[in-house]
Amino acid sequence: MNLKDYIAKVEDYPEEGVTFRDITPLMANGEAFHYATEQIVEYARSLKVDLVAGPEARGFIIGCPVAYALEIGFVPVRKPNKLPRETVEVNYDLEYGSNTLTMHKDAVKPGQRVLIIDDLLATGGTIKATIDLIEALGGVVAGCAFLIELEDLKGKEQLAGYEYKTLMTY
Ligand code: PRP
Ligand code: ADE
Repeated sequence: MNLKDYIAKVEDYPEEGVTFRDITPLMANGEAFHYATEQIVEYARSLKVDLVAGPEARGFIIGCPVAYALEIGFVPVRKPNKLPRETVEVNYDLEYGSNTLTMHKDAVKPGQRVLIIDDLLATGGTIKATIDLIEALGGVVAGCAFLIELEDLKGKEQLAGYEYKTLMTY
């Protein structure tokens, strides 16, 4: 299956100069969504993972079915003021703008092996912020998985020393 057939290209969204890679056609196609999820599940099985973490919002969409298939837990990494209990937080830059990510302080136990899943790696700001949060809680980042890597934005430089897998590159 060629997963790229299910990614829509949108020029100048959300601002001029950005080529947005829209995963919603992939999510809407049962066969493509299942195939993509299975590729990440297979990768996760090779890593011995205790927990999946995914950044809001698209990381939830890909991360949750992987956690379900592995029969392990899923931890949401959220934008500010969404989690009700005590949190750790970190600021980060994006291809367009900047933001803060948060996790509940008790979301990861020291020594747990965590697979971080998101739809897309661009500048790497989001994945680096998520790694920092997990490590601040004493977790071990076992690996990272993405549907898409935008190579020109050099996000992999944020992943030096970490295992990662991407299903498509542009
Ligand atoms: C997008 C995407 C990744 C991140 C990648 O999320 O889903 O999480 O940007 O960019 P980076 O590598 O430069 O950090 P966004 O913050 O737009 O939020 P959304 O998932 O809620 O749409
Ligand atoms: N997140 C950050 N950059 C993106 C892009 N170009 N397309 C889709 N999601 C993104």
